[in-house]
Amino acid sequence: MLNNRGFNLWADNYDKTVQVSEDNNLYPFAGYKKILNTIFNETMQKTNSDVLDIGFGTGVLTSKLYENGHRIDGLDFSSGMISIAKSKMPKANLIEWDILNGLPLALKRNKYDSIVSTYTLHHLTDEEKVSFIKGLIPLLNEDGKILIGDIAFNTREDLTSCREENINHWDEDEYYFVNDEFNSSLNNNCRCEIHQISHCGGIFILSRK
Ligand SMILES: C[S@@+](CC[C@H](N)C(=O)[O-])C[C@H]1O[C@@H](n2cnc3c(N)ncnc32)[C@H](O)[C@@H]1O
Repeated sequence: MLNNRGFNLWADNYDKTVQVSEDNNLYPFAGYKKILNTIFNETMQKTNSDVLDIGFGTGVLTSKLYENGHRIDGLDFSSGMISIAKSKMPKANLIEWDILNGLPLALKRNKYDSIVSTYTLHHLTDEEKVSFIKGLIPLLNEDGKILIGDIAFNTREDLTSCREENINHWDEDEYYFVNDEFNSSLNNNCRCEIHQISHCGGIFILSRK
């Protein structure tokens, strides 16, 4: 699994790596643009809204929201990623933080219209993901949404087939979403809409019950 130093080294080449995988419809980033565009369009339903991005990376998604007048808070543990994102969003509140420590105190009393997270939560185990995501629900405004785009599979069998097809570059240290398992582990704590976008990528839209 990449630690923050690994992401620092990847930061300058990150967008290029994603593009090659996405253009060729390959694991892990097949569907990346559609996933980010869909989350962008959902978030744009409100004007000048409050957005939190978990693992914003080079700011591909949030810099577009920032340019459209949304207020951006963000968490990421890589200083390399943060400096690229900061150059695109100088006034955003970008905090260097490891989400394995939960949420920083400074954000705990905030409320958001949208909490977005793309291609980041697979760095948490399934248990850690669910516990972290449940902790985000109190930060939502009444009609707010959590929009997660990530490597995801409809079933465990689909994940296993993808692993077999990509065994030479499968990342054994990442924990991908399995839609039905994730939905049931939320245990009715929120509403959950699931959209499978590519053979290995999907979107989860969570809202208060
Ligand atoms: C694959 S990149 C995704 C970046 C961006 N959201 C996108 O869709 O292109 C994963 C990002 O999550 C961050 N990240 C990974 N694990 C993290 C952790 N435990 N705490 C905070 N950030 C983390 C990395 O630094 C990196 O910027």
